[in-house]
Amino acid sequence: MADTPTGGPVLAIVETGRGDYGLQPLLKARESGLRPLLVTDDLSRYATSQAARDLIERTVHAIVPADTRDSASVTRALRPYADSGELAGVLAVIDYYVPVVAETARDLGLPGLDPRAAHIARNKLRTREVCAEHDVPAPEFHRATTRTDAVDAARSIGFPCVVKPLTEAASIGVRLCRDADDVAAHFDELTASPVDMRGMPKPGGVLVEEYLTGYELSVEILTTGRGPQVVGVTDKALTAHPYFVETGETFPTQLPDAVRDMAAGAALDALKAIGHDFGAAHVEIKVTADGPRLVEINARLGGAQIGRIVQEATGLDLLRETVRLHVGQEPDLTRTRTAAAASRYLTAPDSGVLRGFDGADLVRRLPGVLAVDLYAAPGAEVRRARSNADVLGHLVVRSDTPAEAARWAETAALMLTPSTTAAPC
Ligand SMILES: Nc1ncnc2c1ncn2[C@@H]1O[C@H](COP(=O)(O)OP(=O)(O)OP(=O)(O)O)[C@@H](O)[C@H]1O
Ligand SMILES: [Mg+2]
Repeated sequence: MADTPTGGPVLAIVETGRGDYGLQPLLKARESGLRPLLVTDDLSRYATSQAARDLIERTVHAIVPADTRDSASVTRALRPYADSGELAGVLAVIDYYVPVVAETARDLGLPGLDPRAAHIARNKLRTREVCAEHDVPAPEFHRATTRTDAVDAARSIGFPCVVKPLTEAASIGVRLCRDADDVAAHFDELTASPVDMRGMPKPGGVLVEEYLTGYELSVEILTTGRGPQVVGVTDKALTAHPYFVETGETFPTQLPDAVRDMAAGAALDALKAIGHDFGAAHVEIKVTADGPRLVEINARLGGAQIGRIVQEATGLDLLRETVRLHVGQEPDLTRTRTAAAASRYLTAPDSGVLRGFDGADLVRRLPGVLAVDLYAAPGAEVRRARSNADVLGHLVVRSDTPAEAARWAETAALMLTPSTTAAPC
């Protein structure tokens, strides 16, 4: 494993994302003069290619095996580093591990989020309940534990409604349901497995919610010793119903300042309601005819390419500053650039076998295209996207204004539309 000659404080990263995205926190910690530990119950999740294995080998100070679903196990595994005085912080970049990391930080006396706030944010039902107690505008909701209960709740809330799991992420299992049959079928699908995508036990039942009719924004926030700092508001684009897969973001939002401020205010109210007192938050808001409504609170950095577009637009490296915060340093939220950036995610229009991305040669002629990353190879079986896990590639564009960034990114995404042939029988 790699090491700096002088050592440097240790940062424990508890699990991470898949692919290149997941390697970024390790690299960022190393770039920041820290020695990253990767605490994981399954290294094979990340060491998926020789290149990834090499990078992990070069970057990580040590792999620390632990049952990452359990803070007692993570605390035990990290105790020797804490006792020797080397361990300066612990970080989660994936939603599923936010509560375990908050508890571990508390148990080891490290900087961290209040575990109560972490648990509330992680569980969409708890978020709804606590926000309702604090009058944060949000959709009507009901937790249904049987199929009949789900159908009755949907009838009472009204169709169409949203039926979703309590503790997944990446839009997994979130679906618009138009009638009782939809609700019943989706209830069965969501309750078929007792564990979530990361193997953690699921709370029983599903959430049935009022469908918020509007457009979506997210608010990127870093809560430091000085309180919550709004880094900015992001425009989000989504696929067509019945799924809600992210198709792109633009930062900063193209909307008027009044809308931006209203969304930021709603996000801050939601964070206050749950007692968010430390670290990154990515709060999703729908702007409806009746004003902003909370979709959800993520007590972590915005995923996918949000960090990248914030950095391209402002020069502010939110991941780096979040890492600094977690090891007890003062983050620097100074902007060094006034520009804009946009990302677009490529998804298959239909299920089938991927032929390729039309126009990959043309897209490079567009101005401001910084990244085109196509992860799905021709010949792969693909499906119409149901969650962010079905994204086949992405692109990032930088421009002077958000309107231009969005237009160039849209143009590039159209050129790159994946083409498919019918799946073999
Ligand atoms: N009540 C609702 N009304 C309208 N749209 C909703 C509602 N709930 C969820 N959505 C849509 O579904 C998307 C995913 O839902 P949600 O954010 O709750 O799930 P998630 O899996 O935690 O998402 P993420 O991708 O942020 O991890 C939202 O961004 C939003 O577009
Ligand atoms: Mg969400």
